[in-house]
Amino acid sequence: MTTNYITDRHGIRRYMVTIEVNGIEYTRVIKANVLLVNFLRDELDLTGTKKGCELGDCGSCTVLLNDRPVNSCLILAIECDGMKVTSIEGLAETESLDIIQQKFVEFGAVQCGYCTAGMIMSAKALLMKNPKPTEGEVRAGISGNLCRCTGYINIIKAIMAASGQEAAI
Ligand code: FES
Ligand code: FES
Repeated sequence: MTTNYITDRHGIRRYMVTIEVNGIEYTRVIKANVLLVNFLRDELDLTGTKKGCELGDCGSCTVLLNDRPVNSCLILAIECDGMKVTSIEGLAETESLDIIQQKFVEFGAVQCGYCTAGMIMSAKALLMKNPKPTEGEVRAGISGNLCRCTGYINIIKAIMAASGQEAAI
């Protein structure tokens, strides 16, 4: 966490943070209470990361922090100083979609789309750690992500397909 701060004319401390987001380093001066999700959305205009419950329950705000999935509504941006964040905008390494995104489209795993970015980031974290997960491991991997539309079946099929496997469901 950064300890670099200035005190503005109202007596409020503002902290200088540098966070690498999707391969680009950003330095901003922010209040201590800025959440990572708001840093991404408001400071960097990366609005692909969604805010749902803002309580750590729904997973719609999931991003990777140093390659591990986190609820960005529960983390202060100043805690991420010097760290690496990947959001949905940084997932695809080329101009085409990431394989997980492709399979979500192919399997109709998106309805309203509100959960999708967070769901895909959790799936990405899972497949980075475990490229050939079982169906149970896929279910566990997305257990922190709520979807009120799809019933999860097509999401599980899509993640299994992204790992080169067919779901038994
Ligand atoms: S918005 Fe972060 S977990 Fe729901
Ligand atoms: S597609 Fe609507 S919440 Fe998941």
